[in-house]
Amino acid sequence: MHITVVPASPKTGQATIRSLLADARNPTVRGVYRDLAKVPAEFKSHPRFEAVQGSVEEASSLDLSGSDAVLNITPPLYVEERDIVAHARLVSENVKAAVQKAASVKRLVLLSSVGAQYDHGTGEILTNHEAEAVLKDAAPEVVFVRCSYFMENWAPAVETVRDAGFFFTTLTPLDNSLPMIAVRDIGSACASELLGTGTPLPSTPYVFELHGPRACTSVDVQKALEEVSGKSVEIRQIPKAGLAEFYSAVFPPRIAQQFAEMNASYLEGGILYEDPQPTGRIKYGKTELVDVVKEMYGA
Ligand SMILES: NC(=O)c1ccc[n+]([C@@H]2O[C@H](COP(=O)([O-])OP(=O)(O)OC[C@H]3O[C@@H](n4cnc5c(N)ncnc54)[C@H](OP(=O)(O)O)[C@@H]3O)[C@@H](O)[C@H]2O)c1
Repeated sequence: MHITVVPASPKTGQATIRSLLADARNPTVRGVYRDLAKVPAEFKSHPRFEAVQGSVEEASSLDLSGSDAVLNITPPLYVEERDIVAHARLVSENVKAAVQKAASVKRLVLLSSVGAQYDHGTGEILTNHEAEAVLKDAAPEVVFVRCSYFMENWAPAVETVRDAGFFFTTLTPLDNSLPMIAVRDIGSACASELLGTGTPLPSTPYVFELHGPRACTSVDVQKALEEVSGKSVEIRQIPKAGLAEFYSAVFPPRIAQQFAEMNASYLEGGILYEDPQPTGRIKYGKTELVDVVKEMYGA
């Protein structure tokens, strides 16, 4: 089986490629990079891996010919002051055109997000909503993997704990729990869906949420950080009313506003907190938060 990951550079793309190359079914894998200097050394030398140049922003640069299955990730925009929903539509339309040009593609797997079913109130997740809307019929078999909050989002907390023994949390109040998933489990789940190409799906698009073994609160994050660092860790809460200012310190204004809205969506009163139209089907990863924290801490 021949599988293409586009774009291959995001950490979820890398994790999927790692899972595919380790699989006993020996698929061949092509990764599409806008910058070939970003190809990790561990893949470069692998006999079943090929890196090609291409950008999801340029339809003519995408060649998916010969692929049985494709993993598509909607690349996040963190630094550019652009309309992120319009950008998601553009890159998804480009991928759809490339899939349809390559007659060999039987299955498209889209890495999406919890909350992608909603067309309002979810901020940055609207990019995933847009991608799903464009790609729902892009191939004979379509799978949407709606991931929960990445455990790796706590990387900045690891840094502040290492340097100063505290971390900021925007998951409030402290007993509010959220499903969280490790990127390596996302990689395994996406690889499994890609390798299942040709096996009949219950529906197309086939949609499921991906959670970790348990939902976590900010106190669970604190405990994981304390266990790994071996020191006592202080939680600094960012209240809902302070989200816009908090994100403005790291992102340009329009992006900050989308992140603040996304964050508010899973706090009390938000659309994901209420989840009036739940996805229904949930799959679970195995990796615990403490193991991801350990890896990020380098412990
Ligand atoms: N974080 C969460 O909690 C969460 C939860 C659910 C779903 N999601 C979704 O997961 C996806 C993000 O995945 P991630 O965290 O793996 O991303 P990431 O590691 O932050 O990826 C950013 C990457 O996107 C690549 N990129 C940007 N523009 C590109 C372009 N035009 N062509 C090709 N590559 C481009 C960049 O490549 P270069 O290396 O070339 O710069 C960079 O490596 C998003 O769709 C997000 O909505 C996230």
